[in-house]
Amino acid sequence: MKLLFDIAKKTAPTLKERGLTIKGVMQRAKRRTGNDEFYTRYEDIEKELSMYPKNIWKNKTVFCNCDDAVDNNEKNTSAFALYFLRNFKELKLKKLICTHYSGVVDLFNQGAMGYVFTKTGFKEVKDLNSLKKYPPNYAGSFDDELSLEILKKEADIVCTNPPFSRAIDFWKILIESKKRFLIISNIAIPLTTAYLHYFKDKKAWAGFNRIDWFLTPRRELTEASGHWFTNIPIRNRPKYTHLKIVPLKDIPEKYKKYDDSKTLLVDQGYIPYDYKKPFGVSTRPILNGLLEKGYKIIQDKEYYPYIDGVKKYSRVLVQKG
Ligand SMILES: C[S@@+](CC[C@H](N)C(=O)[O-])C[C@H]1O[C@@H](n2cnc3c(N)ncnc32)[C@H](O)[C@@H]1O
Repeated sequence: MKLLFDIAKKTAPTLKERGLTIKGVMQRAKRRTGNDEFYTRYEDIEKELSMYPKNIWKNKTVFCNCDDAVDNNEKNTSAFALYFLRNFKELKLKKLICTHYSGVVDLFNQGAMGYVFTKTGFKEVKDLNSLKKYPPNYAGSFDDELSLEILKKEADIVCTNPPFSRAIDFWKILIESKKRFLIISNIAIPLTTAYLHYFKDKKAWAGFNRIDWFLTPRRELTEASGHWFTNIPIRNRPKYTHLKIVPLKDIPEKYKKYDDSKTLLVDQGYIPYDYKKPFGVSTRPILNGLLEKGYKIIQDKEYYPYIDGVKKYSRVLVQKG
C-alpha cells in the first residue's frame, strides 16, 4: 500500500536534553505495546462530540494531554487538536492546551522534544508552531509535573485518546483530578477490575459511540475496539432502546442461564426487571446505559462464571435498586 508519508525519524537531542535516563527509556519501551500507536480519526471525534450540548464548552479550557500534536500541516496534527482548532469559535472555547509526548515513536512527526501548545481566545494565528513551548526536560507525558499542573490548575475538560499501555495510570490521575472528561478507551473496561469501580461509583460512564477503526502511524486503517467514556451528563441515550428490560419469564431460555453458583446470567440485551438478586451481564448493557435505568454494579471485581465446571467469559454483577 502506498504511504501518505514516512514516519519521521527522531533527530538528535540527547537523553539528558529530553529529561530521560536509559532506565526510563527501557521501562517506557517495555510498557509500550503496539496498541499505543494509533491515531483517532477526525470523523469519530466529530460524531461523538456532536452529541453533547454546545454550551458545555463555553468559556472552557480543553486539555488534550496524550500526544495531541499541533502543526501548521494538518497531516501532522492530531484529530483532537484539529477538531478544537476548527471549532474554537463555534464552541466558544476559552483556551486549548495540547501536549506532545516525546516517545519512542514519533506519531505526529513532531520531533523528539515534548511541548505544550496553548491557544487562548479566538483570533486567527498564522503560525501555529509559534504557540508551542518546549520547557526544558519536559517529555510531554500526562504524568509529568507540568502536565499535572495544567490538569489541576487550568483544564476544565480533558479530551484525548490515552495510550493503552498506560490507561490504568491515566484513568486514576484523571478521575482524581475531578475534571470533566471525554476520552477513548478499550471497550471492555467497564467489566475490567482496574476500572469497574469508577462505573460502580458513577465517576465515569459510557459516551455515545464505539470506535472500531483507527489509523496507524503510516495512516493505514487498523481495527481496534474502542469506546468513548465520559463524566459529562448524558440525557436520552439513543442506545437505551437496545436494552430489553422485561419480566424474567419473558426472557428466552437460551438467553438466561444459571451458573454453578446459581447466579443468573443474561445475554443479548435482556434484563429482568422483576429479579431481586444479583445477576451477570456482559459489557454491552453497561455501555447501553443500564446503570442509568435503576440498576447498580454490586462488586468491585469482574465476575467469572463457571457452568458445569467450565470457565465462561467475564461478566459484571448488577442488581436492581
Ligand atoms: C492511542 S495514541 C493516540 C494519539 C492521539 N491522542 C490521537 O488520538 O490520535 C496514544 C498516544 O499517547 C502516547 N503516549 C504514550 N505514553 C504517553 C504518556 N506517558 N503521556 C502522553 N502520551 C503518551 C503514545 O505515544 C501515542 O502517541
